[in-house]
Amino acid sequence: MAPIREGEYMIQTNGQSISRLNLQHYWVEETLGYLLHPDIPVADNAKIADIATGTGIWPISLSRRVPSTVQIDGFDITTAMFPPADWLPANVSLRTLDILKPLPDELRGVYDVVCIRYFGVLIRDNDPGFVLRNLVDMLKPGGYIQWVEADIYNQRVVTSAHSTLAGPTTLEQHLEPWRGYLDASGLRYDWLKTLPTTCKETLKMSSAKLYKPKLLPAFRFTASASVLGAWEELSYKFLDDRPDEFLGTGPELRKKIAGFRREVERGAALDLEYYVTVARK
Ligand SMILES: C[S@@+](CC[C@H](N)C(=O)[O-])C[C@H]1O[C@@H](n2cnc3c(N)ncnc32)[C@H](O)[C@@H]1O
Repeated sequence: MAPIREGEYMIQTNGQSISRLNLQHYWVEETLGYLLHPDIPVADNAKIADIATGTGIWPISLSRRVPSTVQIDGFDITTAMFPPADWLPANVSLRTLDILKPLPDELRGVYDVVCIRYFGVLIRDNDPGFVLRNLVDMLKPGGYIQWVEADIYNQRVVTSAHSTLAGPTTLEQHLEPWRGYLDASGLRYDWLKTLPTTCKETLKMSSAKLYKPKLLPAFRFTASASVLGAWEELSYKFLDDRPDEFLGTGPELRKKIAGFRREVERGAALDLEYYVTVARK
């Protein structure tokens, strides 16, 4: 059986996850330079959806940058990381939705923009088709999809010229079993690079374009803290109960992560490429 089963979310949804996701939000915004790609127009009466919204940080942040008449609805399979409804901006709502299931009729053709971010951990066998169809079905004619991902499969280790580390780091050595774990779960990120083609050829969208922003070296510590935090959450969520041939037991992985953190303190870091697809229905 695959280490991560179909539809399973590999990370936790607790207080630590909230901090990590919100950290990722600021890292990605700094890297991209925008929350919503400048090619996507936002009219005063626009309706915007954010799928798998997590903590709702994207709708909350965006609400501060668009007219207060723009309605932004965040959806997630769980409410576990949502702020209380009475703490949300007036034009933001957060609700439950399983985007891996057929779309409820009331959500069809409603939105001018549908955003999805960091959902690659649930895309199996390089096939985003089902999710993409749901996103397109949520759009009005002429509406836009924005899909943002960091490629956690092809991440690599870089070391500062000022690092005191010699030889390959244990962090670098860990990337091989990490890829083995993802491979065995059908979680490769090749689909990201062909997403615009899928939008145009399979979903018959009128236009689609891929953007690959330049990475900011000063954010490598942030990237590393985020990935190591996610691995730690995975160790608690899955490995304590389901030790794995690639990643071992929960305590084993956590011990390794403590070592990776020491290497990061000495100038090693993870680089992850970002991919942004903007497509119009
Ligand atoms: C890595 S987080 C991304 C959160 C958010 N998009 C962001 O950028 O901060 C992935 C989210 O997907 C949600 N999720 C997992 N399975 C889902 C499903 N089937 N439908 C909708 N959301 C799902 C998780 O609860 C989690 O909040």
